[in-house]
Amino acid sequence: MKPIRFALCGALMLSAGLKPVTAAGDSRELVKFPAIMTEHMLANMLDHLRALDEIIGELSAGNADKAATIAEKRLGMSSLERHGAAHLAKFMPEGMKAAGTQLHRAASRFRIAVKNAELAPERESRHEVFKAMQNITSACIACHQGYRVR
Ligand code: HEC
Repeated sequence: MKPIRFALCGALMLSAGLKPVTAAGDSRELVKFPAIMTEHMLANMLDHLRALDEIIGELSAGNADKAATIAEKRLGMSSLERHGAAHLAKFMPEGMKAAGTQLHRAASRFRIAVKNAELAPERESRHEVFKAMQNITSACIACHQGYRVR
């Protein structure tokens, strides 16, 4: 019974595209950046989380336009320069670069969803905003599941 359940669980994780992260074994790929760049990247990460928190705060205060600006500036395509993305990208495996692009695109699309919601303040457009926000968090997770730097 047990091996079957185990196999089933593995198959489910594979089909969901998830890699198992357990105490016994860490299946994330280790990516080696020069030390100073690792520090820089982790500082960016803390800012990513802060940005997400601020976005939710602005949305809950009814300041959709401010939420959109934070997403674009801190997580979106226009944040790439600020994060020194070009330097980091040289050290990244393809999959990690793709996850980064996924995040930046999701953040830019979030801005558009928020703008659209302003023009059509209906239930569906609110759902679109939540969907766009989840696309952002899914992109965070896509990279975190696959890679580590230490
Ligand atoms: C392109 C890959 C990638 C994307 C996209 C990404 N991260 Fe990360 N993040 C990492 C890696 C790699 C680490 C380091 C993991 C490790 O080795 O401990 C990390 C670490 C972190 C940390 C811990 C920082 C520390 O000082 O310990 C936070 C917080 C974080 N990420 C938040 C986010 C949030 C929020 C998002 C999405 C808005 C995000 N990240 C998107 C790759 C990514």
